[in-house]
Amino acid sequence: MRKPVIAGNWKMYKLLGEAVETALALKPLAANANHCEVIIAPVFVHLKTLADRLEGSNIKVAAQNCASETSFGAQTGEISAEMLKDVGASHVIIGHSERRQFYGESDESVNKKTKAALAFSLTAVVCVGEILAERESGNAESVVKRQIVGALGGLTVTDMERIIIAYEPVWAIGTGKVAAPEQAQEMHGFIRGVIAETHGGEIAEATRILYGGSVKPDNIAGLMKQTDIDGALVGGASLEAESFAQIINYK
Ligand code: PGA
Repeated sequence: MRKPVIAGNWKMYKLLGEAVETALALKPLAANANHCEVIIAPVFVHLKTLADRLEGSNIKVAAQNCASETSFGAQTGEISAEMLKDVGASHVIIGHSERRQFYGESDESVNKKTKAALAFSLTAVVCVGEILAERESGNAESVVKRQIVGALGGLTVTDMERIIIAYEPVWAIGTGKVAAPEQAQEMHGFIRGVIAETHGGEIAEATRILYGGSVKPDNIAGLMKQTDIDGALVGGASLEAESFAQIINYK
């Protein structure tokens, strides 16, 4: 059985006080959510405070990116996976489409960062997803396959225990245009098939594949009914404790 994961990606939102307020409001609302793992991903500078304030709760804290280098060094502006672990992060989002689109992330850098995360026992939430033109030209599957194969290259079967995939069609992110549950299911099934090719059927069956892109309280249940959808990576609707709690408690 794959335990569902509901993760909130706070992107570049919230000052520290607001982040603490939302996290503390979420704490009791998520307290009985034993059916899933709950994660929030604030900006780097809020990680330590939120990790401390949420200690002992069932909410884990994720970073939104990490450096590809693993040792200390002259890397101005970078933050290593070890540093994230050190301040209390348990997960890190890697290769989000906004990083790929605006900050030059490639399949190669995603692979390097994923390995860096694993080196310090973080769980990597690896994002993949096609843009609208790729879907419209019938290339969605080949693009996503290239991203998955690229991200997971060189990872062992044991490494895969710390990998969560997030399928986020770029055309659905922040647009209010959620993928139809069947459409998402089709791609999730495809991704599981790709993982079966790269790491074997057993690993593919065990890997959580989250859907992301305009997930809201009113569409989560339909998505979660799909066989290969194991949770959600939520942007906008995770910014308020009440709406995120409704998504967490979709059952
Ligand atoms: P959204 O963002 O829920 O606001 O569409 C999802 C994401 O970017 O992870």
